[in-house]
Amino acid sequence: MTTRRPLIAGNWKMNGLKASLGEISAIAAEAAASPAVDVALFVPATLIAPAAAAAPDFLIGGQDVHENESGAHTGCVSAAMLVEAGAKGVIVGHSERRTDQHETSDTVAAKASRAKAAGLSVILCVGESLAVRDAGNAEEVVSAQLIESLPQEAASDWLSIAYEPIWAIGTGRVATVEAIDAMHRALRAALRGVIGEDADKLRILYGGSVNGENAAEIFAVADVDGGLVGGASLTAGKFVPIIKAARSA
Ligand code: 13P
Repeated sequence: MTTRRPLIAGNWKMNGLKASLGEISAIAAEAAASPAVDVALFVPATLIAPAAAAAPDFLIGGQDVHENESGAHTGCVSAAMLVEAGAKGVIVGHSERRTDQHETSDTVAAKASRAKAAGLSVILCVGESLAVRDAGNAEEVVSAQLIESLPQEAASDWLSIAYEPIWAIGTGRVATVEAIDAMHRALRAALRGVIGEDADKLRILYGGSVNGENAAEIFAVADVDGGLVGGASLTAGKFVPIIKAARSA
């Protein structure tokens, strides 16, 4: 039996206008009715303030943060800006940013540090490409990516990890329970090597085509402590069954 509280986080990516605030309120209401589960939504930067106002007791977060405190970085958002807008957390190192914005693991670690210093909780993402999966050494590669991306002050009270195989994101193709189990064990062992016993308290989420049908099976895996959900987090109708699956896992 794990003593880690499940975390079910939705990543809205580049989706969501004020017209979606009703969905956020409905998801927040379900979160309030699920005291044994932490629920969070990571919305576009423009939606953080209205979402936090619509659901003040709920964890609204951003999807990226700049590694510097302030300065000449056109288009970027600082940790203090996220906090002022009402964010309580942030995602760093999502594979879409590692690919589209060429973010390195060093940058991801710096972003996590900056967010922590501002009082934000952080979900740090790692995951392998299909080529790495097919080559048969995914655990080794993703463990190394995790260690490179970990900030020095990594600890379970502010940081969670999300394992998101790139080939499972938005594809409807989910990793097998066996593959998820092997990866999450490997990542926890890698964490133990860096932060010691606190690794047993740190949440490791699975992400990649999680939905209401497959969530229960995935959350039943011993080292899976919740999910990071993209497409199926955009409406209460799709997200609430995933929260309920975590409640009974
Ligand atoms: P999907 O759930 O749409 O596959 O997205 C997963 C993801 O990238 C969450 O960060």
